Amino acid sequence: MENNRGGWGSNIGFLMAAIGSAVGLGNIWGFPYKMGRSGGFTFLIIYLLLAVFVGFVIMIGELALGRRTGTGPIGAYHAVSSRFKWIGWLAVFSPFIIMSFYSVLGGYCIEYMSLNLSNLAFRAAPISGEDLFSSMLTNPWGSVVFTVLFLVICYLINRGGISGGIEKFNTVGMPALFFMLVIIIVKSLSMEGAIEGLKFMFVPGYAVAGGFIETAPSIGTVLATAGGQMFFSLSLAMGAMITYGSYLGKQENLVKNSAIIVIADTIVATMAGIAVIPAAVAHGIQQGIPVGEIALGGPSLLFVTLQNVFNSMGDIGALFGTLFYLLVLIAAISSAISLVEVVATFFIDHAAQKGRTANRGRVVLYVCLAILVEAALVAFDGLGSNGVWVPGQSLGIAGWNDCWLDFMDMLSEGLAMPLGALLMGIMVGWEIGPDSTLDEVHSGCGRGIDGFFRISIKFLVPLGMVLVLSGQISEFFGADAATIGYGLGIGICAVGLIAALTSPKRRELKK
Ligand code: PHE
Repeated sequence: MENNRGGWGSNIGFLMAAIGSAVGLGNIWGFPYKMGRSGGFTFLIIYLLLAVFVGFVIMIGELALGRRTGTGPIGAYHAVSSRFKWIGWLAVFSPFIIMSFYSVLGGYCIEYMSLNLSNLAFRAAPISGEDLFSSMLTNPWGSVVFTVLFLVICYLINRGGISGGIEKFNTVGMPALFFMLVIIIVKSLSMEGAIEGLKFMFVPGYAVAGGFIETAPSIGTVLATAGGQMFFSLSLAMGAMITYGSYLGKQENLVKNSAIIVIADTIVATMAGIAVIPAAVAHGIQQGIPVGEIALGGPSLLFVTLQNVFNSMGDIGALFGTLFYLLVLIAAISSAISLVEVVATFFIDHAAQKGRTANRGRVVLYVCLAILVEAALVAFDGLGSNGVWVPGQSLGIAGWNDCWLDFMDMLSEGLAMPLGALLMGIMVGWEIGPDSTLDEVHSGCGRGIDGFFRISIKFLVPLGMVLVLSGQISEFFGADAATIGYGLGIGICAVGLIAALTSPKRRELKK
């Protein structure tokens, strides 16, 4: 299997790539907004608890699974499990689906970066964020062109291989991103009224008290939001960390590496929040917009609110705009290449299994072309602006209604991801047992967490994941569907446990 798969040039290179995968759009528009809406500091604490007891543990599990088997998710699950072999497919399907919208959003970033750059060069009068965004959305061919451009960048990086492409890009990209983030933070905090934004993010209950939202979400919703966000943000249950782990040397310390990835991702998410939310809120207040009407999350935060902030800065705004969209673009690319790599690695491993050597360049090209087909659909839909039919519109299922981006997001991040994570936890904890993972962890001298790992993977991970999955299923079916959500979530967990406990693999290992 080793034949020309390649591997990381150094542990730090691996770390940069894994952090690059984790730090993405989710950190910039997801985390700060969800944190503000869901109780500020309280959300942060819940997020951190979930990150330590569930995310960190699954991160170790995924890196170990990849490294132990030396293959991407499909081969890895096949090698270790008899009941959960098919999860590997889920872990290749989800990244592919995520790329359908990730590449469109990456394309939007290129478009905005170029616009700000040309404003900078020609001192053109800036156009309002609202006009810019709606003209971009209603110009499907334009969006497709920029999506293609984004995919070409990914293609060129992934074609270069693990150390020659992915590692190289991230080793430069991640420090650059960090540096730009610090510059934007300084600018953002210097704006008058920035403090309101900080309060929204950090002070418990301030979102309601300060008029940002009307009612606080329930604790169940907060748990599901924090859990879903944590998974997406750490690139878990998507095959990404299994794939990156499969290229990692046996001597590396998985525990230390996992801790660094989780900590770095959380720090960058918080920093991204401090970079964007105070600026967005300060600008809104200066314009006399009620805080409840300022878009602080999702695509509108990036492409409407923040563009208006840059516009209001005068000439220097175009410079900050260029810098900011470049930063977001780097974050998007570094995540996208990990998603592309999951799918590409599958084909490369598959060929190796058949005794053939796949041509990496050609595999990556086909993967990117396939992504382009689904991404074109999302681009054409333009977040629902162009009247493209969306599945479920006729069925009236809440989670399917809005637009193709939401639909794809619901399928991958919403359902496949928590389902995959729940079943993976059950597989590691109850079918093959935590010790097989710990053996792999020990080869890189990661010790001292055995007891914690055993308890977490057996009990806390399934419990946490049932909560997240149930919350997501409820959301999928719309308001008042909590009973269906929790019923299905607990049901799936029970079936999974029975499958694990009666698995032939378990009996074989017990002997
Ligand atoms: N972690 C990325 C983000 O925060 C998204 C991602 C998920 C990337 C899964 C790779 C795998 O945006």
